[in-house]
Parts: sequence; C-alpha cells; structure tokens
Amino acid sequence: MSKLKIAVQKSGRLHDDSMKILNEVGISIDNGRDQLKASAKNFPLEVFYLRNGDIPQYLLDGVIDAAIIGENVLIEKGNSISIVEKLGFSSCRVSLAIPKTDSYTSIQDLNGKRIATSYPNTVNAFLDKNNIEAQLHIINGSVEITPNIGLADAIVDIVSSGSTLFKNNLQEVEVLLQSEAVLAVSPQIGTEEKAILDSLQFRLQSVLKARK
Ligand code: PRP
Ligand code: MG
Repeated sequence: MSKLKIAVQKSGRLHDDSMKILNEVGISIDNGRDQLKASAKNFPLEVFYLRNGDIPQYLLDGVIDAAIIGENVLIEKGNSISIVEKLGFSSCRVSLAIPKTDSYTSIQDLNGKRIATSYPNTVNAFLDKNNIEAQLHIINGSVEITPNIGLADAIVDIVSSGSTLFKNNLQEVEVLLQSEAVLAVSPQIGTEEKAILDSLQFRLQSVLKARK
C-alpha cells in the first residue's frame, strides 16, 4: 500500500508546531527527530525530518510528496510549488531593517547600499519591483549582526517577535512579505498519494476550524 511522504522541519521554529498539528489530527508518529525518518502507526504516512531550505527542491524533484513548511521558504526557493492549506501557525514576516540611528525616508534610500540576507531571490524581486540597485551579501544565519560589524547597511530577514532586531539595535522599515506555515504539495505527486493527502488535508481542516 502507498504511503504519503511528508517533510517536516528537522529543527527550528516550525518543528514542534508541525508535530503538534499532526498529533492533533490523530496521527501518532513513532519517534522524535533523532531519526531522519519515522512512520505513522495509524495512517499511511512517512515523516522525513529535513532542513528547511532543502525541502522545496525535494518537492520539485518529487522525492517527497508534501511538506509542512514556511511560506517564505517556498517563495524564496520554490515558487512553482502549490500550497494546499495555510496552517495558521509560525506567522512571521520577511522585513528590511536598518540601524536604529540611521534615518529612512523611502525605498529610494536603499540605492547603492549593501544588504545582507538569507533570502536573495525575495530581496532581488523586491529591489527590481522598486527599481533599486543595491549590493547583496548572502549569509546563512545571524544576519542581524552584519550592520554592527560593518558588513552591510541593511538586512532582510525573518521577523517574528522582533526581539532579534531589538537586541541588535535595528529598526524595521519595510515589510517584504507575510508568511505562515503551510501544507505544500509536490507537482509530481502520484494519484494514490494525492488521495492520502486529501484525507490528511480534510483532517487538518477540522482541527483548524476547531482552533478558531
Ligand atoms: C530567526 C530569524 C531571525 C529571528 C527572528 O533566526 O533569522 O533572526 O529568528 O525572530 P524574532 O523576531 O522572534 O527575534 P534564528 O534564531 O532561527 O537563527 P538563524 O538566523 O541562525 O537561522
Ligand atoms: Mg536569525
């Protein structure tokens, strides 16, 4: 019998809430994240614990059928992947921030500036749309430190509580996009797997309705 292969963030801010919602729909999963793969006991599902940034490519390649993932990651790396359900948790925004002591009047201020980010495609789309020429520095993490060490004039990163910006003396001046956890589907999903996904989605919808 077929099983639905679903990717969940291995560690990080989506992991716990992703496991929680699977649990709430009545799917019990054998083990924690020590193993990279786990099977559900009572539903035709296999869970793969993967790095966030790798998930869009796995979906595009069809090695994974579906994923619980941040919308911002899909926008950055997998624009052609469909979202079947918004899951209402892990809300955040992708924003541009500059040092608190710098003044800001409009987007035009970014012309010729150095921007550090882990989201180059998102930033480039934003710059193109606004006809801004800036220099990008692509960093994998701790992006908010870069203005303090003189590497960048501005940053684009995820903002959730805002505490990382605050601690690094940065002010949020532009919101590029809003994001939350979503259920995404591979463009290559098979018919049987799609039927399993539909029943998972149906269960998720009842949980989401009850949460409201
Ligand atoms: C994420 C993100 C921001 C921060 C936002 O970083 O890159 O820095 O969380 O959350 P906040 O607004 O609630 O402070 P994370 O700590 O996950 O680490 P990383 O940047 O090294 O990936
Ligand atoms: Mg960070």
